Amino acid sequence: MLIKRGRDWEINQREVTDEALFLNRRSFIKSITAGAILAPSMVGFGSSANAKKKKMEIDPTASLYPVRRNDRYTVKRAISDEYDATTYNNFYEFGSHKSIYRAAEALKTRPWTISIDGLVEKKQLIDFDKLINSMPLEERVYRHRCVEAWSMIVPWTGFPLARLMELAKPLSSAKFLVMETMMDPETMPGQKQHWYPWPYSEGLTIEEAKNELSFLVTGVYGKPLPNQMGAPLRLAVPWKYGFKSIKSITRFSFTNKRPVSFWERIQPKEYGFWANVNPEVRHPRWSQATERTLSGPRVPTQLYNGYTEFVADIYKNLSSEKLFM
Ligand code: MTE
Repeated sequence: MLIKRGRDWEINQREVTDEALFLNRRSFIKSITAGAILAPSMVGFGSSANAKKKKMEIDPTASLYPVRRNDRYTVKRAISDEYDATTYNNFYEFGSHKSIYRAAEALKTRPWTISIDGLVEKKQLIDFDKLINSMPLEERVYRHRCVEAWSMIVPWTGFPLARLMELAKPLSSAKFLVMETMMDPETMPGQKQHWYPWPYSEGLTIEEAKNELSFLVTGVYGKPLPNQMGAPLRLAVPWKYGFKSIKSITRFSFTNKRPVSFWERIQPKEYGFWANVNPEVRHPRWSQATERTLSGPRVPTQLYNGYTEFVADIYKNLSSEKLFM
């Protein structure tokens, strides 16, 4: 497993470039790689009005950000540096290394249609922009702990997964929620690696999905999600190892059968359905007792990643299950 090396020598992009201009430059590069002809409106993009306009064109939901932080969900440690958090990512659809942020620019996030199906009263296809505009957005600062023993503190923007479930109205026979990532091997070359069980999928019990911590993320650091972090919609379940927090979701399906998720299919002896964080339960190949923080020191890992008070009740009658792998 790769562990991130320190990057103290790097200058934060935000310190050297005005953010709107930086985003603008990315869109410029994108349009060149897409073979677009340089439009007159892009010439002289240094003016702030133009820069703002370009930023809105990049993401139609940009004007929704930033939103109010919900202080019920705070962390005593400092928020991770934005540059570190957005340039050290797992997104196997774009490769198995950590610097997939450039490759992930290829992801097309509009139009983005989400299917809600299975054991629900209201099966539906919903456009992402319509969905986000109907949801109460808030910011939550969560711990994010990868099974590879690195972690960060992230200010996510989004809405409770429970709100999406209200739209769907699951039947009482629905016991699990399965989520799937977009399938598009042309823009996500990792999906051409047929030995992986694409599309990436993850599952929760209905009780876990309804838990107040289960959060559907649309943004981070007060802006829409960058592609490499799972734009336009991903999950955050902070008491579980990070692989449960599926990115770029296009399907929510309710079922009565426990699903076998992406990593569990690949290596069931190492990655299970529950994957709750526990410092005392080793990964078969390494200790989970401590974690290397992205912008800081190594710290002790906490049971349920520090969220015991929110989630312990879910598991009180499940002691026969492998809750921590
Ligand atoms: N979702 C998809 N679709 N593909 C992935 O490869 N990686 C998972 C999870 N969600 C992954 C995914 C893993 S292993 C982790 S640790 C987190 O995303 C990483 O999220 P981050 O890159 O935003 O930190």
